[in-house]
Amino acid sequence: MNYKIAVIKGDGIGSEIVSQAMKVLDKIADKYHHEFTYQQLLMGGCSIDAYGVPLTDETIQACKESDAVLMGSIGGNTTTSPWYQLPANLRPEAGLLKLRKSLGLFANLRPCVLYPQLRNACTLREDISIKGFDMLIMRELTGGLYFGERKTESVDGVMTAIDTLSYNENEIRRIAVKAFEVAMKRRKKVTSVDKANVLDSSRLWRKIVIEVAQDYPEVTLEHALVDSTAMQIVKDPAQFDVMVTENMFGDILSDEAAMVTGSLGMLPSASLNETKFGLYEPSGGSAPDIAGKDIANPIAAILSGAMLLRYSLDLQEEADAVEKAVQKVLEEGFRTGDIMSDGCKQVKCSEMGDLIAERV
Ligand code: IPM
Ligand code: MN
Repeated sequence: MNYKIAVIKGDGIGSEIVSQAMKVLDKIADKYHHEFTYQQLLMGGCSIDAYGVPLTDETIQACKESDAVLMGSIGGNTTTSPWYQLPANLRPEAGLLKLRKSLGLFANLRPCVLYPQLRNACTLREDISIKGFDMLIMRELTGGLYFGERKTESVDGVMTAIDTLSYNENEIRRIAVKAFEVAMKRRKKVTSVDKANVLDSSRLWRKIVIEVAQDYPEVTLEHALVDSTAMQIVKDPAQFDVMVTENMFGDILSDEAAMVTGSLGMLPSASLNETKFGLYEPSGGSAPDIAGKDIANPIAAILSGAMLLRYSLDLQEEADAVEKAVQKVLEEGFRTGDIMSDGCKQVKCSEMGDLIAERV
C-alpha cells in the first residue's frame, strides 16, 4: 500500500528526532512492502522565518490531504528567541494550536510506560518503580483554557489579563467516549481528573463522564481531583490505567507522568479526530539548548511513528515491530544521554535511530 505522510519537523531538536522516526518507518516500508510518500511542511518558528506566520493555509491543506501527520516539535527559547517578541497569535505555539483546531484533533493520547529496562532512569524510589506502570493519559486537546476567549486590558487603570475556561457537554462527551473505548482494550479502568470542588467546567465534566460510563458497565470509573492526582502520580503510578482530563490539566500531568518514565524523551503521543486521521508527535518540547548536537533522544519520535502505524494506517504488526525494536535496543543497554545509567552504552541520536531501524 502507498500512504501519504505529511512531515513537520519543526524547530529545535525536531528535525533530528523526526529523521530517526522516518529512518525506522522506511525500514518498515522495506520489510513489509509498503510505500510511504513524505511531504515535508513548515510549522512553528521555521514557518515564521520563511513566511512570517507560524502556520500557513497551504500547510493545513496539505495535512488534510495526507493519511497522517508526523511531527517533531516547535518553538524556541522563550526569553531569547526573537519569535517571542511577536504578538501572541504569531508565535510558534499559536501555529500548533491552530493546526490542532483546524484538523479537529480533540483527543490526545499520551501513553506513559515505565519500561523495565529503564527502571534506573525512573525518578521514583525503588519500591515504587519496581512495580512498574503503564498508564494512558487521554488529554482533551481543542477546548478549555487553550481556546477560550482571552484578553489583556486596563480595568479602572489596573492591567488585567483574562483567560476563559469553558467546555460544552458535547466536547466532554466525545473525549469521554474515546477514553472508555480505549479502556475497554486495556485494563478497563478510567480515572477522570477534574477540579470539581471549585470549577463549574469540572462539575459538568464529571456529570457527563458519569453519563457516558453507563454505556460501559465493564469499566471501573473513578473521579479524582487534579491536585491529588499530581501527588498520586509520584506516589503510586501503577494504580492508573486510562486517565481522562481537560486540556490544561492534561498538559501538566503528562509532563509529570513522562518524567517518572525516565525522560520526556520517551513519551510519544497521538492526536486524533473522529476519523482515523491523526497527528503524531513526541510530548516533549523542542529543547533548543541541545538542538543540532545529535544528542537528543529520538525514542519518543520513533514511538510516535509506531502510534501512526497503529491508529491511522491500521498496521498493527508493523507498529508492534517498532515497539519491540525499541525495547530490544534498551535491553541491549544502549542509551541516549537523558536516560543514561551505569553500565550502559551512551549513543547519539542518529545512532539510536540506526540501532532501532536495524532491529525492526
Ligand atoms: C504539548 C506542548 C504544547 C501544549 C505547547 C508547545 C503549546 O507543551 O504538546 O504538551 O501546551 O499543548
Ligand atoms: Mn506540554
